[in-house]
Amino acid sequence: VAEGKFRCLVCGANGFAITSTLWTCEQCGQAYPCVHGMPKLYIDAAIGQQDRRLRDKFYDGVFGNFYAFVMPFIVLPVRPAAAAWRHWSVYLGACAALLVLGVLGAWGLSAGHVGWAIGGWLPLAVLLGLLWRQRYLFDLMWLAIPTRLSVWRSGFKPGETFAAVHARVIDALAGQRRNLRILDVSTGSCNSLYKHGWMTLDASYTAIDLSTTMLTQGQDLMAQRGIAVDLVLGDALDLPFQSESFDVVLNYGAINGMTDPGRALAEMSRVAKPGALLLFLDEQMYAGASRIERAYFHRVLSSHNVIHHCPVELLPAELEDVRVAQVYEFYYICTARKRLAQGGASPGG
Ligand SMILES: C[S@@+](CC[C@H](N)C(=O)[O-])C[C@H]1O[C@@H](n2cnc3c(N)ncnc32)[C@H](O)[C@@H]1O
Ligand SMILES: [Zn+2]
Repeated sequence: VAEGKFRCLVCGANGFAITSTLWTCEQCGQAYPCVHGMPKLYIDAAIGQQDRRLRDKFYDGVFGNFYAFVMPFIVLPVRPAAAAWRHWSVYLGACAALLVLGVLGAWGLSAGHVGWAIGGWLPLAVLLGLLWRQRYLFDLMWLAIPTRLSVWRSGFKPGETFAAVHARVIDALAGQRRNLRILDVSTGSCNSLYKHGWMTLDASYTAIDLSTTMLTQGQDLMAQRGIAVDLVLGDALDLPFQSESFDVVLNYGAINGMTDPGRALAEMSRVAKPGALLLFLDEQMYAGASRIERAYFHRVLSSHNVIHHCPVELLPAELEDVRVAQVYEFYYICTARKRLAQGGASPGG
């Protein structure tokens, strides 16, 4: 890596001696190991409690390993039915299997066949116990259908759609700028960075995440698509980048769940150049949500979060042109621009 965008977390220097297994700060000597060829630019003892919990319990665990499989189920009640019918089939199949086991046990008991009773209820108890340990999945089981019906009835229409927000900011960048530097914070499997239009720009990409399990999926996706990207294991609350390094700073689906969302936003703003775009998305309920939709939101979709709305009140003062769009029933996108330094050059230049 020839550029000086990286920052040593101990001394702030930007020079590293780099081998395939180790980055060593040229100023203070701090050594950062590489995992799957990606530098681990965070100090484990320094990460926040909630970030550590999410990493160890979810993203580096079963959920992270099966992220692409599990995620569509979590958002099942709010996905367009046409796109989600396969997942609805699996969900209904799982409900039917639980029902059959329950009925079998009850029939065995009433008919005096203890073997059938145990054969039905024992696996049922084990399955319900497993679900109970992941409470959000247990709650999803009973909330999915009522929430889907309620969402249907609501007829929610966004003021500005997800696609329109992206078109607004990406078209503006495409018209103005070359050689953009784009950073995706909490990139996970690089899914959003890849899918939402950022690849159409003349840009270089940097992506960071705290979870090795998630980021190796991102490494695979970008390698399969032949996209060059600097992948870094690191903490959004202490970004290992120099200030004013990026033209675009993104964060999809992670701000609300962080130990300190305000600090994450301050860090995103710090590494943004004057005039740069910040865009982040996360969970927030639309104004007209029904009781059942609220239950789904709090028990399932936003259950792992620290905050449950767009944290505009935590945005650093140097951000302007702040716009929040309720793009789906349960998601906002916030866009903002980092103020130009007094008398500074125009971002279009
Ligand atoms: C719901 S996933 C979203 C992934 C991706 N942005 C997407 O849209 O598919 C949230 C991601 O945030 C990451 N994350 C959580 N806390 C973080 C932190 N403090 N620093 C960096 N990444 C973090 C998790 O490891 C996980 O990959
Ligand atoms: Zn150093």
